[in-house]
Amino acid sequence: MQSDLFLQRPWRTRQDAVADAPFGFLQMGESHLLYHLARDYCTGAGVIVDGGSFLGRSAYCFARGLEDRPAGGPPIRIHCFDNFLVNDTYTAHSIRERLGVELALGASTRFLFDRAVARVGSWIEVHEGDLLRIQWAPRPIEVLFVDVAKSKALGSRVLELFFPSLIPGRSIVVHQDYHHPWLPHIHVVMEYLAEYFEFVEPRIDESAAFLLKTPIPRERLAHAIAYPFSYPEQRALMDRALQRLPEDCRAVVALARACLVGTNDRPAEMRRVVEEAIASAGAASQDPIWCRYRDHVLNMLEEREGWAALEAGDARRGLALADSYLGRNRLDSSPHVLRFHCCLRLGDLDAAEHSLNKAFEIDSGLRRGRLHKAHLHLARGRLADAEREAIEGLREAPEDPGASAEYLAICTRSWIEGGRLREARAILDDLGRSEPTSPWLVIARATIDRQSGDLPGAVARLRGVPASSPARELAQRLLTSWQQN
Ligand SMILES: C[S@@+](CC[C@H](N)C(=O)[O-])C[C@H]1O[C@@H](n2cnc3c(N)ncnc32)[C@H](O)[C@@H]1O
Repeated sequence: MQSDLFLQRPWRTRQDAVADAPFGFLQMGESHLLYHLARDYCTGAGVIVDGGSFLGRSAYCFARGLEDRPAGGPPIRIHCFDNFLVNDTYTAHSIRERLGVELALGASTRFLFDRAVARVGSWIEVHEGDLLRIQWAPRPIEVLFVDVAKSKALGSRVLELFFPSLIPGRSIVVHQDYHHPWLPHIHVVMEYLAEYFEFVEPRIDESAAFLLKTPIPRERLAHAIAYPFSYPEQRALMDRALQRLPEDCRAVVALARACLVGTNDRPAEMRRVVEEAIASAGAASQDPIWCRYRDHVLNMLEEREGWAALEAGDARRGLALADSYLGRNRLDSSPHVLRFHCCLRLGDLDAAEHSLNKAFEIDSGLRRGRLHKAHLHLARGRLADAEREAIEGLREAPEDPGASAEYLAICTRSWIEGGRLREARAILDDLGRSEPTSPWLVIARATIDRQSGDLPGAVARLRGVPASSPARELAQRLLTSWQQN
């Protein structure tokens, strides 16, 4: 089924056709893959989709390939999809370092894209917006380049929006993140659909390319989109995806398998799988990119082990793990956050505050930032500040139930320690008006009632927490302990 192009694979050797391509997140080999697909593979049977255009590098490579086709073929369009926003601090950092342009999180990058593709703009049609919501009138796709499946939801959206338009026997899907550790859902889904695809390029840089051999039955695609796979199913699919690759192309996907285990919160199993990936890396262990990915995965492992240690009451081990992965020098606030909580638990408040400041220096919009600040205020005995941060945090992030529980626990402690039980009741009643079903509010209110001497009222409230609620376990624990005392 493979065309000559995939036997010759000129992108593995030819390194000059798109040497002038603008800055982006593609390496040279995969940039040339796009160039050659456009120049030597596309017939006009469908369009090219550039899913995740960033600053235009992939679009430019496709466009240069189309320009270099022999004259006379049918016109082919490149459909570029991106929200053209600075979505994360890494993107802001890269743009600053490479282009000298300072952009804040959330700022538009569209002007940089437009500038980068200006010379080849006539080949390009832009679809700007969030891929999760954007609409597109379906039309046949001859080459689908996927560099936007950065989450399960986006992966599913790619399947939903584009896969029904693939042409059996013709369409090529390039997954740019196939040889990347962070997105194992891509391997899981492609393996689930493996009988319909054939690897035509198992690895060029971080990309893998697949030919759609036969139509994907509608219900099979719907299942892949829904992604209802249990953890053992995902593990099995991932193992098969790994085995399907030639042995010398497995090293990064072996790290992706470790991430799959890690994201399913299995630190002990993850350590085994990471060690296996390192032991079997072979020549890849000399590749600086693989080494960087290995370090990212080790960071993820130690972060998870660190939080698990802290939760198990071993803050010293948590701190050692935080320091270990901090030593791998990331642009990331997370080791500082773990360090902060470990120091807090160990009672070293100055070290804790220092780590929290570091985390905010790296990421001013730190997730659950108010929660960390509130913990610090509480530990320092600044009860009013703790309460203020916690209430603000609650109001800002009602959709984060894990955080709501902690915010309320902090408020409850500061009210009790500050002897402000009457005010506490009024504030909880007020919060309850906007969130009448919150079980965490019920628990906070019950705790205040008990502290005020109303044990029967407190017990009745706790008994009202529904069995299906995530707060049920805590409610039961409190009930048992209050009834014993
Ligand atoms: C790795 S970059 C693409 C790199 C690009 N192909 C190149 O050649 O340099 C991933 C892109 O996905 C885009 N993206 C992330 N989430 C998105 C979303 N929800 N909707 C649309 N685009 C999104 C980002 O804006 C980013 O430009």
